[in-house]
Amino acid sequence: MAPRATTVFACQSCGASSPKWLGRCPDCGEWNSYIEELREERAAPARAAVPAPMAREEAEPGARVATGMPGFDRVLGGGLVAGSVVLLGGEPGIGKSTFLLQASRALAARDGDVLYATAEESAAQVRMRGERLGVQEETLLLVAETDVESVVAAAERHPPALLIVDSIQALREPALSSAAGTVTQVRECAGVLQRFAKTRGVPVILIGHVTKDGSLAGPKSLEHLVDTVLTLEGERTSLRRILRATKNRFGPIEELALYDMTGEGLSEISNPSAALLAERRAGLPGSAVTATREGSRCVLVEIQALVGSSSAGSPRRVAIGFDPGRLALLLAVLEGAGLSLASREVFVSCAGGLSTAEPAADLAAVAALASSARGRAIPGDAVCFGEIGLLGEIRRVPAAASRLKEAAAMGFRAVYIPSGDATEAARFLDLEIHPVDRVADFLELIG
Ligand code: TYD
Ligand code: MG
Repeated sequence: MAPRATTVFACQSCGASSPKWLGRCPDCGEWNSYIEELREERAAPARAAVPAPMAREEAEPGARVATGMPGFDRVLGGGLVAGSVVLLGGEPGIGKSTFLLQASRALAARDGDVLYATAEESAAQVRMRGERLGVQEETLLLVAETDVESVVAAAERHPPALLIVDSIQALREPALSSAAGTVTQVRECAGVLQRFAKTRGVPVILIGHVTKDGSLAGPKSLEHLVDTVLTLEGERTSLRRILRATKNRFGPIEELALYDMTGEGLSEISNPSAALLAERRAGLPGSAVTATREGSRCVLVEIQALVGSSSAGSPRRVAIGFDPGRLALLLAVLEGAGLSLASREVFVSCAGGLSTAEPAADLAAVAALASSARGRAIPGDAVCFGEIGLLGEIRRVPAAASRLKEAAAMGFRAVYIPSGDATEAARFLDLEIHPVDRVADFLELIG
């Protein structure tokens, strides 16, 4: 049993503390900085830690367990690391519980017990979801509990292969008087679960709700505490879901996996390029295809632009799934290259639900803008990629070869790429290569 705990309120800005909550810190003057914390009395004097040479080989950081869902494993960097804590964030209703129930199934079928702690829904509600997903595994165990100590005690009694907590905002540490979902509770509960993960070597996944603007303090305050932060994103109105890592101590952060929500849960899209281009109307002005890099693979996406007349004094510039700062830069470069859109309304979007922040998409955005402004379509079998610099130069991009490979695999014929990447392209015999150096020349070439 842990030593007796008392609670104090501590200023998150300067560290001052008080037995009761204060609206303003008397020490540093900060407002609303007092948060309830647990103080544990040390039963025994601190034991000295044992330093070891950094160069000495230690046992590997922890074995990995494959979840059996290929996209999930890839985003994690090769499966769940023993003893690690993963936070899965996402808006309510996006499919987090569904996704993790699916992930638990494969693990429970192969590696033994998976403990699913539901603090938010009743056991009956989770069972209903399980029925819909066809859960039959006897080793998928359910505990409906909001007390974190009691969840950990259950996991301590029979350490499972994986512990899932749904959700961290619904759990409470009873020693704290604060309500569930407050920063204090969320942090303390995550701390308790993290200690369990580390001491028992059991991977733990925490579900955390995040609102659209990411404003909910709970999960944000956990990001530094956990090893991996994953997000499940998507528009409520669409069935497409994207799983990505935004922090990963044990793997890459640029990997992603695409899913569609179906009647039987989330189903992974094995060919993202095909799915993202499925609704493209090739041959219409304002559309251009680019190849973006998402972790270890490249994905083709359509960049759309709409340039219209404006009656307002300051015409609108709207970017959806595309960096507004880059849009402003591209418009300025286009101006310099002789295509002024200063008095026009401009919309740019990355179609299909994926967003791109990659400068490699610049060339396609410029192509789509010019195409819409001139009312002339870009050939439907063309792919453009290249970063555009402030001087209107077209710069090389990383992984040009794998972008070209994806373009060829998806049946595209023509590619517009930075001259610097043209030597790479020579071995793609099926592709008609158009090396470009400057935006002005590119506009002439496609116009
Ligand atoms: P849920 O996993 O409860 O979301 P979260 O845990 O992120 O709040 O799932 C939300 C939605 O998914 C819900 O509206 C119903 C839908 N859904 C399906 O479309 N198919 C399914 O097989 C399941 C289980 C849910
Ligand atoms: Mg849920």
